[in-house]
Amino acid sequence: MKVCIIGASGKLGQYMIQHALNRGYEVVGVCREQSVGKLAPWKDQMTVFPGRTNDREVIKQAVAGCDAVLSVLVPWGVDNYASGTAQAVLDFAEPGARLIFSCGWHITKDGQDQYSWIFTTILAVAAWIARLFRLVDINDQVEATRRIFASDRKWTVVRGSDLEEGESQGLPVWSHHVGDPILESNLTRRVDFALFMVAAIEDESLIHEAPAIVGCQTPSALAFAES
Ligand SMILES: NC(=O)c1ccc[n+]([C@@H]2O[C@H](COP(=O)([O-])OP(=O)(O)OC[C@H]3O[C@@H](n4cnc5c(N)ncnc54)[C@H](OP(=O)(O)O)[C@@H]3O)[C@@H](O)[C@H]2O)c1
Repeated sequence: MKVCIIGASGKLGQYMIQHALNRGYEVVGVCREQSVGKLAPWKDQMTVFPGRTNDREVIKQAVAGCDAVLSVLVPWGVDNYASGTAQAVLDFAEPGARLIFSCGWHITKDGQDQYSWIFTTILAVAAWIARLFRLVDINDQVEATRRIFASDRKWTVVRGSDLEEGESQGLPVWSHHVGDPILESNLTRRVDFALFMVAAIEDESLIHEAPAIVGCQTPSALAFAES
């Protein structure tokens, strides 16, 4: 199994590299030129393609021959970084490749998610400020996932809760909609978010799903397991 990790040098990306190597996968990564040094711990175990993740030529080369592509979707700047990344992966990944994308709970596939007013207000204010300073364009991540949902590729969009660092607690649990009781704790270890992304490669039941995940040891997940 050959796997390409787009955005490999970030926190999520680095965890995904390790999980993929642990499974015996051959790993290829794309990251910005100035971040290649962050991949030094794995320099003999993976191939790195330096470049921005929305650079179509870089993506085309990196995903060639890969059975799966794991993409960290981040809406940096205001030049369609996330949608450009998603489009390049959709356009150039091998036919039949498993395509796994990361994003947050704010993304909705079918409009059935139920958000608290606090969540919605914080998101709206943060998005407005970030866009004002041309740092982040949340709408571009929405556009990226709109294109993925419309695609007939074998995609999965993994929607992360709030994240924390720490030892792995195991594979997160998931539900179809934010607002479902199992997700109430709204917390996942970043290492386990990465684990879910990598495990999704071989989980065909997740094709064309947008699982909202939460840590398997959180109170809401444990309460659900007991019931
Ligand atoms: N943070 C959260 O609380 C949270 C919650 C839910 C879901 N998520 C999702 O989780 C995923 C990873 O999020 P994360 O917060 O954990 O971040 P992360 O893994 O640290 O990844 C950040 C990525 O953005 C890149 N990046 C940073 N600054 C950049 C810039 N100015 N221009 C272009 N690329 C830049 C980084 O590349 P370099 O290594 O080159 O800097 C890295 O690949 C995202 O899809 C996010 O939507 C995050």
